[in-house]
Amino acid sequence: MTPAQARGPTDARGDQRLLEISGVTRVFSGLTALKAVTTHVAANELVGLIGPNGAGKTTLFNLISGFIAPTEGEIRFDGRSLSGMKPHRIARLGIGRTFQNLRILPNMTVFDNVSIGALAAFGQTPWQALAGGGGAVSRGISELTRDVLDQVALSDAAGVLAANLSYGRRKYLEIARALATRPKLLILDEPAAGLNDTETGELASFIAGLVRKGMTVLLVEHRMSLVMSICQRVIVLASGVKIADADPATVQRDPAVLESYLGTGE
Ligand SMILES: Nc1ncnc2c1ncn2[C@@H]1O[C@H](COP(=O)(O)OP(=O)(O)OP(=O)(O)O)[C@@H](O)[C@H]1O
Ligand SMILES: [Mg+2]
Repeated sequence: MTPAQARGPTDARGDQRLLEISGVTRVFSGLTALKAVTTHVAANELVGLIGPNGAGKTTLFNLISGFIAPTEGEIRFDGRSLSGMKPHRIARLGIGRTFQNLRILPNMTVFDNVSIGALAAFGQTPWQALAGGGGAVSRGISELTRDVLDQVALSDAAGVLAANLSYGRRKYLEIARALATRPKLLILDEPAAGLNDTETGELASFIAGLVRKGMTVLLVEHRMSLVMSICQRVIVLASGVKIADADPATVQRDPAVLESYLGTGE
């Protein structure tokens, strides 16, 4: 049975834990950015991760994607420990991410930006591809790139330099590049930052659509309307400590959350 077939209301607390975070602490020269955080993401779940500025959300993403290592604790993905693994290996295992500050390559076309993600899906470095990775591989990369551009409605802009895209479309380009790695888990760091309400609504539908098609998503976001409308579960961090981990309705009336976060407004 695939995770998508197994999906059901009780799954979120079931055995199909795609991502398991166990007692993770991260200290930066005396500052504890995350303290003994334990949580998980089940296959095909859409989970929100919220908390005030500096709560440790991006730090958790950097730990999951291998950019930094935990000081204590362990992260497991798809049954394997990620301890000591480099970011490119973790990406190849099936974790795709976007960055809080967009990291697209402005002087490359939209198509080429997404191809970089697709190369990873085929286990190729850009250098191997330049050296001629074989017709079948390059056809596969082009096909995957076109498919992903289609998913994010950027096909018409394939030949445009990324720098010339509108800000809103650049956000989708960043998501497209992550999708092109063919991830099992997509982690999105503030995808709605800088978008207006209409664009945020469209993004919410897009993310929910990905999950309906079988994707698993962990979403960091300050826009409460987005998080509360689409997430099945919401994890709340405050000063590096997990203070809540429940369905959106429960989290919204949790006194500790109201005090530390929601009370401060959007
Ligand atoms: N590489 C680093 N070196 C030193 N301190 C860091 C580093 N990365 C993060 N921190 C610190 O860890 C804490 C958590 O930061 P983090 O970026 O994870 O917060 P965040 O929840 O993503 O905040 P925001 O909502 O503003 O993006 C902050 O105090 C930050 O200054
Ligand atoms: Mg952050």
